[in-house]
This record gives sequence, structure tokens and C-alpha cells, in this order.
Amino acid sequence: MNYLITGGAGFVGSHLTEYFLNRGDSVSIVDDLSTGAWANVAPFEGRPNFRAYVADAADPVLLEGLIREADFVFHLASSVGVQLIVSQPVDAIRRIIRPTENVVDLCAKYRRPVLLTSTSETYGKSDDAPFREEMDVVLGPSCKNRWAYAVAKLVDEFYLLAHHRQTSLPVYITRLFNVVGPRQTGAYGMALPRFVSAALRGEPLKVCGDGLQTRCFSSVFDIVEGLARLSESKEAVGQAVNLGSDEEISIRELAERVVKICDSKSPIEFVDYESVYGPNFDDMRRRVPSLERARKLIDWSPKRTLDEIIVEARDWQLATGRF
Ligand SMILES: NC(=O)c1ccc[n+]([C@@H]2O[C@H](COP(=O)([O-])OP(=O)(O)OC[C@H]3O[C@@H](n4cnc5c(N)ncnc54)[C@H](O)[C@@H]3O)[C@@H](O)[C@H]2O)c1
Repeated sequence: MNYLITGGAGFVGSHLTEYFLNRGDSVSIVDDLSTGAWANVAPFEGRPNFRAYVADAADPVLLEGLIREADFVFHLASSVGVQLIVSQPVDAIRRIIRPTENVVDLCAKYRRPVLLTSTSETYGKSDDAPFREEMDVVLGPSCKNRWAYAVAKLVDEFYLLAHHRQTSLPVYITRLFNVVGPRQTGAYGMALPRFVSAALRGEPLKVCGDGLQTRCFSSVFDIVEGLARLSESKEAVGQAVNLGSDEEISIRELAERVVKICDSKSPIEFVDYESVYGPNFDDMRRRVPSLERARKLIDWSPKRTLDEIIVEARDWQLATGRF
């Protein structure tokens, strides 16, 4: 297979690239390195089945050539996480919607199947966990910036589904829930890599609010396996599928586990959401996926435990000195 992966120098994208290269497939990536890093894919340089373009996935000319040559397109290029939406709202919204419009229109022109990585943020404030793909959602108002991330990703989802309905394009949508592992940076607010870095540096682990909000953390290696299986499933076309872990943990307990696994003396410090995200910030208390659809469609469920995931993140930060 000849895969095109936008956002391929990012955290998830680089693991997906490596997975297909190791399987003997060809992979081209397009990444503008806005949040990704060349170091993530530098080890693949020189492999005959790997090509990389440092460019904007909204570039119609470059993408036209690459999509024409591809058998399947994974569209991961996007701003990621709520912190970017809060600090750079215009760029962050643009970076979600424009590349998607470009990529999906070209996929329709050349009849190439395309998979979008959407997010658990699209479930909004619902506390009706576990979240099923077709449940109703409640989002916050536009004066609360964080919801721009969920809304922009939902616009992406609608755009893929619109093409599916109107042009019969084979589209795949997956909603990822807190994916973590080696190569993930804490620079854009992701809790686990930030906690691991702080623990390794002996600095306080900063937990927002009372820390009793819960999340579910999944290993990037499990997710990459799920993405590959999804792309090979005819039944998954035209519907959203959750991928993540359903092992729930409070952020406070996560911080405690990280301190223990890193054998650290770091204290845990509770800070106001406002001091991190600015005024008027909304957060959800729970975020748990229903994995029923993923099990049924692609016989997938996560394999790694949270402790294994924390150990992998720790060992990678120690080995690369990126903490
Ligand atoms: N990691 C998670 O927990 C998580 C959760 C939900 C959804 N997702 C989705 O998964 C995908 C990958 O996320 P990630 O965690 O690997 O983050 P990441 O920031 O490491 O990856 C995104 C990549 O896209 C690139 N990019 C951004 N805008 C671009 C543009 N206009 N043109 C070309 N490249 C561009 C960035 O440089 C980066 O390499 C994203 O679509 C994200 O929304 C991730």
C-alpha cells in the first residue's frame, strides 16, 4: 500500500508511519512541523519507502500530486489540544478546518479513502459516560474558548460525512481519547508527559482544580493498531468510531502514580484552571469511551495497562533527555 499521512511528523503520525514502514508499505508524510518534530521521523530518512514534505496540508498543489499517488490517506494534521485554542485561537481554528477541506476535496476528486482523527472533546460536557458515538452532546457557549476545538473538529467530521453522503467518498472518522506514549511532548498542555517531565526534574506536578476529574489514557501503540485495522474495515466506512482506553483514573491519582513510577520526590500542587487556561474556562469531569463499536467492527480493545504506559513515557524521556 501507498499511504499518505498528514501530520506524519507528529506524535501519533510518526508511530503510524513507523508501523506501515515496518510492514513494508510506502509512506509519504506532509507536516509543517508546527507542533510535530523532525526528530520524530529522522530515523526513517534514507528508507526507500519513506518520503517527507515539510509543508502545509492546506497546500492544494502539493497535496493534489500526493493524493493522486496514494491508495489511502490518513488525515492527522491539525492543531491539537485545548491549550493551543486558548493561546492562539485564530491559527488553531484555521489549522483544523483548512487542511481538512483541502485534503477531503482532493480525496473526492481522485476517489481516495480518507480517515480523520477526531477527538473525545466532541462529546462536550456530557456526564453520561461511557460515551457512545451517536449520543447527543452538549457543548459550552462561544464565549468559552475551549469549545472552539470541539466545534472545529465537529465541522471536520461533518465535512467528511457530507462528502460520504453527497459523493459516496469512503470516509473514516475516529475519536481518540487521551493517547499517550513515547515522542509525546508536554509543551501543548498534555497532562501525562508534563507530569513525567516534572517528576524527572524534581519539580511540582501541577494539577488543575481539585484533581478529581477523570480521564482514560491509552497507549499510542494500541491506537496505531486500531487505526490500521479501521482503515481496512469496509463496515467502518461513514461512521465515527471511538478509540481509547476505558480504564478511568482521576488526574490527582495519575499524578501520584507518576511520582511513584518515576521514583520522584516531587510534590503535587493544585492550581486554578484560570492560572493555566485564562478566565472563563470550562472542564468536563469525566471522559470515558464506549468501546463497543470498535470491538464489534474491528475486534479491537486496548492491551497496555496504565502503569506500562507511564513506564514507556518515562523511559523515552530519560533516553532522549526530552524532559
Ligand atoms: N494525542 C491525543 O491524545 C489526541 C486526542 C484526540 C485527537 N487527536 C488527534 O490526533 C491527531 C494527531 O495528534 P497528535 O497527538 O499526534 O498531535 P501532534 O501535534 O503531535 O500532531 C499533529 C501534527 O500535525 C502537524 N500539523 C498541524 N497543522 C498542520 C498543517 N496545516 N499542515 C501540515 N501539518 C500540520 C503538526 O506539526 C503535528 O506534527 C490530531 O488530528 C489530533 O486532533 C489526538
